[in-house]
Amino acid sequence: MDKILVIDFGSQYNELIVRRVRDLGVYAFLFDNKVDLKTLDKREIKGIILSGGPNSINDENSPKINPEIFDFNVPILGICYGMQALAHYFGGHVDENKIKEYGDTEVNFDTSSVLFKGVKVTSNVFMSHSDTVTKIPEGFAKIASSKLTEYAAMEDKERNIYALQFHPEVNDTIEGKTMLSNFLFEICRVFKSWSIDNWIEEKVKEIKNFVGKEKVLLGISGGVDSSVCALLIHKAIGDQLYPLFINHGLLRENEENLVLENFKNKFNIKVYYKDASKEFLSLLKGVKSPEKKRKIIGKTFIDVFKKEAEKFNDITILAQGTLYTDVVESGKGGNSKVIKSHHNVGGLPKELGFKLLEPLNELYKDEVRELGRKLGLDESFVSRQPFPGPGLSIRIIGNVTKKKLMIVRKSDAILQEEVKKAKLNKKIWQYFTVLLNTKTVGVMGDNRTYLYTIAIRAVDSIDGMTAKAYPIPYDVLFKISSRIVNEVPYVNKVVYDVTSKPPSTIEFE
Ligand code: XMP
Repeated sequence: MDKILVIDFGSQYNELIVRRVRDLGVYAFLFDNKVDLKTLDKREIKGIILSGGPNSINDENSPKINPEIFDFNVPILGICYGMQALAHYFGGHVDENKIKEYGDTEVNFDTSSVLFKGVKVTSNVFMSHSDTVTKIPEGFAKIASSKLTEYAAMEDKERNIYALQFHPEVNDTIEGKTMLSNFLFEICRVFKSWSIDNWIEEKVKEIKNFVGKEKVLLGISGGVDSSVCALLIHKAIGDQLYPLFINHGLLRENEENLVLENFKNKFNIKVYYKDASKEFLSLLKGVKSPEKKRKIIGKTFIDVFKKEAEKFNDITILAQGTLYTDVVESGKGGNSKVIKSHHNVGGLPKELGFKLLEPLNELYKDEVRELGRKLGLDESFVSRQPFPGPGLSIRIIGNVTKKKLMIVRKSDAILQEEVKKAKLNKKIWQYFTVLLNTKTVGVMGDNRTYLYTIAIRAVDSIDGMTAKAYPIPYDVLFKISSRIVNEVPYVNKVVYDVTSKPPSTIEFE
């Protein structure tokens, strides 16, 4: 399959570059600028994109072009910092712009450049830079300019190198999609070979080859990722797959039954079930720190899994539903920093002694959903909300107790019910309640109360990397609030979280 390598210089938009290229039907992946390029298969890579980044190329310690990219002998497109890095590498000049150019900017294009084929002579783009190329290197020609930036784009046709000072991947660049499409199909001449159907065919073959006659253990959580993972592997190897469901006691109301029923009745796949809720709760007793909670759950999950796995003594392969975002957000791919130690059933370490099978680790969440649909999962299951590996423990601020679990479960069930009744369930990407570690004074009847606060979180997102608070109408909120304080014990206040990610995150811990 033809692939586009996106070298990550740390831009907040680098994921978007990957997404846009994939949306155009070409597989793209992000690669840390510091990682050795020799680990890649050169034959598959048909083009390289250099991402933007927060640094100044003139700083001694800023990331520079790795000359090995030229050994690939494929077209290169530099974006923002990527353009400055190219200019610097080839002997041009990059200086700080006195007036910063940010946001919507009018640019004039030289439409005789293949990169701008079909683009209007004047069009608006998204700029976000303070440094700018002030002298282009020998061999390059100017192909776009704005009022403040003389070299808004440059090309070296001979060496097949192109560069843009603005961000074609951001929607505000009106003709950005055309430019990326020109780079892929006119310049790199790649084939449109990225689609979920092709991918399934290739993956099933790959899984069959990898597994052979061996047996595979897969931890499932009932979430979309591990379920889709189970179906995909089952399609490839049938009963050589052993799905194991560990209940950590931090699930939503009635969740374990739903999961077990679904696998048994709908997919006819036998699931091995272990109730380990007592063990998890006793280890979490008194623990308040979010990171400690996450670490304990991650570790306990591994311990329980290990013990259970020993019972299947002829299993040699461990499968995991790890997604591309898990890889990037955990700081293993790309340049992103660790924000939270993500735990999911895909978080088991190599030391378990199994060979590892992670068939979803190049897919984004919405791609996994599409895969689920193709594999015959119901829409209601495929569009289930994401649920974090550490479960309700990170929706209870502070220490976790049975009583608090009951509060968050009951309030969440009310929220789910009312959102569905208001026909908003398909519109909101993720919504849940959180038990704050705050008691406030209230009044019920004629009596003073001093009880807990429940927060409602509802967000719109594509892949969880960024999110916007969803505006649930007030009448629906009033109903939810009234039901929660009336029906859930120990609660006398309901608040609504309206922050975006960033700067907030979706979960509270
Ligand atoms: P945050 O809170 O990081 O959440 O903005 C982004 C998305 O990831 C989910 N999430 C997790 N999923 N293991 C998971 O499998 C985790 O440890 C975890 N933490 C957060 C969260 O529900 C949201 O959809």
